Amino acid sequence: MISRNTPMDPYDLVVFGATGDLAQRKIFPALFRRFCAGQIPDEARLIGAARSNIGNVAFRERLSDALKEHAPRRAADPSSLTAFLARVKYVSVDASGNKGWEALSGLLTEPRVRAFYFSVGPRLFGDLARRIHEYGLASPLTRIVVEKPFGNDLQSAEQLNATLAAYFKERQIYRIDHYLGKETVQNLMAVRFGNMLFEPLWNSQYVDHIQITVAETVGVGGRGAYYDRAGAMRDMMQNHLMQLLCLIAMEPPAKFDPDAVRDEKLKVIRALDPVAPHHIVRGQYFAAAGDPEPDYRTAVDQPRSSTESYIALKAHISNWRWAGTPFYLRTGKRLVARSSVINVMFKDAPHSIFGEEAGRHANLLSIRLQPNEGITLHVTIKEPGPGGMRLVDVPLDMSFAEALGPEGGDPPDAYERLIMDVIRGNQTLFMRGDEVEAAWAWTDPIIAGWESRGDVPKPYDSGSTGPGDADLLMRRDDRRWQGINP
Ligand code: BG6
Repeated sequence: MISRNTPMDPYDLVVFGATGDLAQRKIFPALFRRFCAGQIPDEARLIGAARSNIGNVAFRERLSDALKEHAPRRAADPSSLTAFLARVKYVSVDASGNKGWEALSGLLTEPRVRAFYFSVGPRLFGDLARRIHEYGLASPLTRIVVEKPFGNDLQSAEQLNATLAAYFKERQIYRIDHYLGKETVQNLMAVRFGNMLFEPLWNSQYVDHIQITVAETVGVGGRGAYYDRAGAMRDMMQNHLMQLLCLIAMEPPAKFDPDAVRDEKLKVIRALDPVAPHHIVRGQYFAAAGDPEPDYRTAVDQPRSSTESYIALKAHISNWRWAGTPFYLRTGKRLVARSSVINVMFKDAPHSIFGEEAGRHANLLSIRLQPNEGITLHVTIKEPGPGGMRLVDVPLDMSFAEALGPEGGDPPDAYERLIMDVIRGNQTLFMRGDEVEAAWAWTDPIIAGWESRGDVPKPYDSGSTGPGDADLLMRRDDRRWQGINP
């Protein structure tokens, strides 16, 4: 199976915030990989824009280092690296002033697809959108790409949406949730809607509960100031886990097109019940003995911080398909392993013809998103050997890498796919404004509850599976979390 690349018409891509961390770590490395794959035609223009008063040469030097670090395999070929760098121009532009805009306009003259990537803080979104208009750089073929955090509550998200809507139509706005660009996250839709096997059982009659885990081993890195204001709820739950929940729970869209998919996701978010305080566990990590990395509070430089680096909660979706099936969601930093998995736990068979002594094992479908992408279906078979009928649970294990073989190729990084989708004008994997607002509308009362009660997160050791109370959340329902395995 060879991965196929669709040829692209010439386009212009301007990355604002080009000297920043995201641009250097993710956006330009993704463009470089697409360049090596032949998806950046000769006539396409790649422009980095930022405030720094540097020229093309200094920018390319900096970019070269970033590509060697973040796309090392491709950057090992000096001719590709040199050819790519020669394609990138730099313009020093002031988002909230007039400096540099004439120079930028001078580069963007042809009527063609033009994408502006706002890899800057949300407070600059309005300024950038306004100047793009004032300098005549917007046409119906213009698109803007905005990163999370898209607001930090419903009100700020509404304001951002209104600001952008003053200059661009919704079909021109691409709100990134990079989880949607992950190959295996899209596989959730393929597994559900490309097979007849699962969908008839995909409801509360057959599914006991669903667990969604996104566990990270990393801490807050150099993003302490941002993270301590956000916490796991705003940083991960409101967006990435919410998107996974939507894809697992939504009704089949009539077709795989942007509004059909996003309409169905929105219905899931709107059907979520408010979460009761005793169905939420917040945690904050402390360095376990011998851990060279600091505690959360030291990492964010806030000795009294009560921000959560871990959250687990039980959610209910009040609709015909899911009423009665709880969804347990958890995510945290500095946990025992990096592992993103969705576990669909089916109900027990209604009656055991073999007698209770033979044992009973409910089926489990595990969808591993990262690393070791694949699916495992646990089925019950007879334990081999003479003697009575005893039942055992065995995994039917499929690793996508093994199934697709070496020719399956490296899955593209989420940003590669998403940037190319922007150029193609395909919004299916981007969040619509109403979706983001609905997610905040569900999140806000939860956060407001903690704040008004003065809730403090439970401590957990780095390298553990999170606070013990998260296990209790399950045990109270006579259930348990699946392990967090690498
Ligand atoms: C980001 C969060 O959106 O996603 C980070 O801000 C988190 O805190 C990251 O580490 C996780 O992404 P991935 O692709 O490594 O699972």
